[in-house]
Amino acid sequence: MKLCLFILVSFALYCSSESSNIQNHLGSRTPYRLKGNKNDSQIKYPNCKDSKIWMVIRHGTRYPNAKDITKINTRLKELKLEILLRHRLGKGELSDEQIKKIESWTWDLDLDKEKFLTLEGQDEMIILAERTRKRFPGAVKEKYDNQTFLFRYTATQRAQQSARYFANGLFDKKEAQDVIFSPAAKVDTVLRTMEYYQDLKYYWMDGYGHDLTYRQACVSIKNMFENFSSKGGPSASFLFTHSGTILKILTHLELFKPRSHLRGDKNVPDRTWRASDIDCFGANLALVLYRCKGVDYVLALHQERVVKLPMCEKELCPLKTLKEYFHKSIYECDYTDMCSLKKDDL
Ligand SMILES: *[C@@H]1O[C@H](CO)[C@@H](O)[C@H](O)[C@H]1NC(C)=O
Ligand SMILES: *[C@@H]1O[C@H](CO)[C@@H](O)[C@H](O)[C@H]1NC(C)=O
Ligand SMILES: *[C@@H]1O[C@H](CO)[C@@H](O)[C@H](O)[C@H]1NC(C)=O
Repeated sequence: MKLCLFILVSFALYCSSESSNIQNHLGSRTPYRLKGNKNDSQIKYPNCKDSKIWMVIRHGTRYPNAKDITKINTRLKELKLEILLRHRLGKGELSDEQIKKIESWTWDLDLDKEKFLTLEGQDEMIILAERTRKRFPGAVKEKYDNQTFLFRYTATQRAQQSARYFANGLFDKKEAQDVIFSPAAKVDTVLRTMEYYQDLKYYWMDGYGHDLTYRQACVSIKNMFENFSSKGGPSASFLFTHSGTILKILTHLELFKPRSHLRGDKNVPDRTWRASDIDCFGANLALVLYRCKGVDYVLALHQERVVKLPMCEKELCPLKTLKEYFHKSIYECDYTDMCSLKKDDL
């Protein structure tokens, strides 16, 4: 089923000249190019200065896993030959131009590149970094300094490379080489919530379906509050992670919550919980600390667009309000405790 869909989508993308529609709906495989906000003007509020940023970023577009690579190298190529053969026999309705494109299509990828960051993914990170720096010049300084910047990623090639290319987008070549990345930990509860392996599935696994799944994100939320509450520490923290974790953080912050649970027996066309929109490659959530006449406020941005947190009155939300609201996440966040819960609690 997944493979069929993949093949269908690949060919559709390939053949269709009006492909933008399909590209927008590839679920968690949607490239970021179609989702980011190209407006990179500085985000200003009167009498306020952006002083810190805490941003979680899903790695950029990656190659398929080994199983899918194998299938592309075999089944997809068989399909290509089949289509060309049928066309020669006068079957099908593809135009000459489409046939030519299929004819020239080829794809060779070694299995050892499975899940590696692609060229598209590298570009996504560079451009995202450039825009982020322009938007928040107070928090994201122009010059690299190992005390001001913090880069952290999970122990995977795609997250590590995403961090690297993001740094390349922030600094000039020479400076980017000096960037220090926090060593990746095997188990990193800030960056990686419990490992589970499209909208409906993620909703129940990582979203509002179960309490426990998104409660784990308290570890990340707590980290953000600690950073924002301390005078020192890095002013720009960039954390590179994976799909499940971003979704759990969004859920923990009560963003994109549908009015009722998503179900298999009913499609809700205007649902806010949509993997293509909220969980594409490069998906990101930024929380920015603004200091306004001595008072701290937090601004949230999802996919580089300002969003109002539901527990706040305005976009620019007092840090104090958030700390009160998330009191439990900060003071009663015990990951080991949650994850030792028995199956019947799930
Ligand atoms: C771009 O973003 C800035 C800052 O948020 C905003 O003031 C401006 O109206 C935006 N420009 C466009 C064309 O949307
Ligand atoms: C951080 O930067 C300072 C000043 O540029 C430098 O002296 C120090 O060695 C750096 N720390 C590390 C761990 O590289
Ligand atoms: C801020 O967050 C980073 C990244 O997780 C963490 O390593 C650092 O200790 C935090 N700093 C402060 C002052 O809370």
